[in-house]
Amino acid sequence: MALLSADLDYLRHARKGQFDWGWLRSTGSEWGVHPRPGKVGLTLRDIAVGSYGDVPDDPPRRTMAPRGAEIDPDVPDMGYTINSKAEVWSDNLLDLYEEAVSRQWSATRDIPWTELPELDPDLEHAMCQLCTVLSEVEMVASDFPAKWLWRINHDFVEAKMVLCTQVMDEARHTEVFRKRALANGGGLGKAKAVVERFLKLILDAESYDEGSALMHLLGEGIVLSLFRAGELIAPSPVEKRIFRLCMQDEARHVAYGTMHLRYRLERDPSMAADFHNYLDKGEEIIGMLFTTPEVVEPTTLLAAGSVRAAEEMGLGGADMLRGRVIEEYLQRCDNAGLPRRGRLKLPAELTEGLAVGAEGEVA
Ligand SMILES: [Fe+2]
Ligand SMILES: [Fe+2]
Repeated sequence: MALLSADLDYLRHARKGQFDWGWLRSTGSEWGVHPRPGKVGLTLRDIAVGSYGDVPDDPPRRTMAPRGAEIDPDVPDMGYTINSKAEVWSDNLLDLYEEAVSRQWSATRDIPWTELPELDPDLEHAMCQLCTVLSEVEMVASDFPAKWLWRINHDFVEAKMVLCTQVMDEARHTEVFRKRALANGGGLGKAKAVVERFLKLILDAESYDEGSALMHLLGEGIVLSLFRAGELIAPSPVEKRIFRLCMQDEARHVAYGTMHLRYRLERDPSMAADFHNYLDKGEEIIGMLFTTPEVVEPTTLLAAGSVRAAEEMGLGGADMLRGRVIEEYLQRCDNAGLPRRGRLKLPAELTEGLAVGAEGEVA
């Protein structure tokens, strides 16, 4: 490749006041478009006007040049591998980005750490074990988008921006659960291989399709249900606040994943078989998680209030929580246009009493 060199002719002319002015006098972009800010300010939706709002299904270039600019014909190829809009897009992206930016919070300042009450040691231990698992799983939802971000065509910049907010959200979730584990005299508990196996499935996914289905839809869906339950069984208002704040972030990630899968399948219904295969693999590991003491027992103990009460209750509480988690997941699959009722890969003993049969069938 020929080495590029500075245009010294231009320099000599410009020194004499003979400027080029090409950029000033002739522009092929949509000059004159004038979006107006709405009530909350100037949003991404406000500026998605004219051709600037048109996101091509198959961008002609692989460049970082901003969509809508007048682009040199010889811009270099950045090597993006995700060049089809349907691979990353969803109809709620612009709003999710705005919401993500406006609802950032601080795990340092926004949690009333000084109000943590001293807990019964068993309950503190349960909270710490739960936080250990959560601190472990949260970071994959930073690592996975980060792994794929640079491969996504810049014409889908809003999708990239949403994934950037997710990377930050999950860093904060990892932070807040790590802080909670350490903040009250407990500390970190046990990290299990089975948990790591699920995370590796996401990280090693061969395509964004596969990883996004496993993470945004299945994994984060379960975590969202868990946060919701966590708010109910939190031993103090401090943990309630942690779960509530995490929940609002997590709901965005799951909303993206669900709507993205819907968008993907609406444009290519033949992909349903692939997505079913991805989720088959993921659900098998989730089944193992549902029978892992370090995952099941902390919430059971927190819900019961003591070891003795938990032993009297047996798995009643855990069954109810798992039932809710599975039902919410199946509902999301329905919403995404990928009904999983009838092919859920969980052992029958874990789904007793749930409507997991054919679509519409109630058990
Ligand atoms: Fe998270
Ligand atoms: Fe998340």
